[in-house]
Amino acid sequence: MSDFTSGFWPIYISIITLVSIIGTWIFLKKQTTRKLAPGEKAELMEHTWDGDLQDFNNPLPRWWLGLFYGTMVFSLVYLVLWPGLGSYSGVLGWTSKGEYEAEVKAAEAQFQPVYAGFMQQDIATVAADPNARAIGKNLFLTYCSQCHGSNAEGSRGFPNLTDNDWLYGGEPDTIKTTITNGRNGVMPAMGGVLGEAGTREVANYVMSLSGRKHDATLAAAGQTKFAENCAVCHMPDGTGMKALGSANLTDKVWLYGGSEATIIESITKGRNGVMPPMTQTLGTTSNQEAKLHLLAAYVYGLPQKQ
Ligand code: HEC
Ligand code: HEC
Repeated sequence: MSDFTSGFWPIYISIITLVSIIGTWIFLKKQTTRKLAPGEKAELMEHTWDGDLQDFNNPLPRWWLGLFYGTMVFSLVYLVLWPGLGSYSGVLGWTSKGEYEAEVKAAEAQFQPVYAGFMQQDIATVAADPNARAIGKNLFLTYCSQCHGSNAEGSRGFPNLTDNDWLYGGEPDTIKTTITNGRNGVMPAMGGVLGEAGTREVANYVMSLSGRKHDATLAAAGQTKFAENCAVCHMPDGTGMKALGSANLTDKVWLYGGSEATIIESITKGRNGVMPPMTQTLGTTSNQEAKLHLLAAYVYGLPQKQ
């Protein structure tokens, strides 16, 4: 297996590599084999440095030459055993992919018994186990923290998972479904339907739902518009629908923000939060099920830990 696209380059590389090694060998040999005849003295070379530093052409020390030849022998042996010469794969048949797969297999074999134990317990039980939480936390830091933050508290557009306020539901199985299949919150852009003034009225009505400071006249005008345009998804009382992930507008938790400007932005442009399905990311390893189980348990246990 090689990434070369033409048969020329492997040969080109192999020739350069071998010629370099053999050439160095011949050069070294040629430069170091002159022996002193009996009685002959090392010649003093013609130059002097720093006033009194002289240069003799004594033979190089044997240990030094030995090291030099040793490196060349080593490189040749290496090139026979491991891939290095063009597309030649080496006597040992080593590949980085093979090594990685072996490591994954070893790790799976090591974790399998641990995982198997947790798989037999339901998510709520696993969530109460400190060892499971430690593993779950590591998994979370690897797979989820880039969006939800290392403390799982999220940020704008990325829900806080520690607050017991759920877009899609906080039951163990719902959390597992969320992580496994992903979620996509679709709030359509309503600016065109409502117009600028209408949007401001509905926004003020939305603010009144959670007891925020609002303009009562605008809010009153917005109430019917809300019933006509928003209640389908956010329910007539504004508490939202878990099946759609339509945010509860009556509480103090905001995914995007509760200021008038941000609510107007949500309504005008719409929102489209995407939680990616984790089955892709967790790979096709046999431990994927267990990882989902432990992650779901970890997330389920988060609000209780606060
Ligand atoms: C690419 C960013 C991203 C990654 C990675 C990600 N999430 Fe999410 N997650 C989101 C977004 C965005 C949402 C909100 C979706 C929406 O607005 O409808 C979400 C929603 C959720 C929810 C639903 C929360 C609720 O209130 O119902 C859970 C649970 C969750 N994520 C858990 C996880 C876990 C566990 C991982 C790691 C295995 C993870 N997420 C990885 C972006 C991400
Ligand atoms: C088709 C269903 C649907 C309709 C109709 C709809 N919404 Fe939404 N709305 C959603 C969903 C789903 C979300 C969550 C978006 C996400 O997760 O990214 C949302 C989010 C929001 C948010 C952001 C909440 C936060 O926590 O930041 C606001 C505000 C909002 N909607 C107000 C409205 C108003 C006002 C209307 C009527 C003018 C409306 N929505 C109509 C489905 C809908």
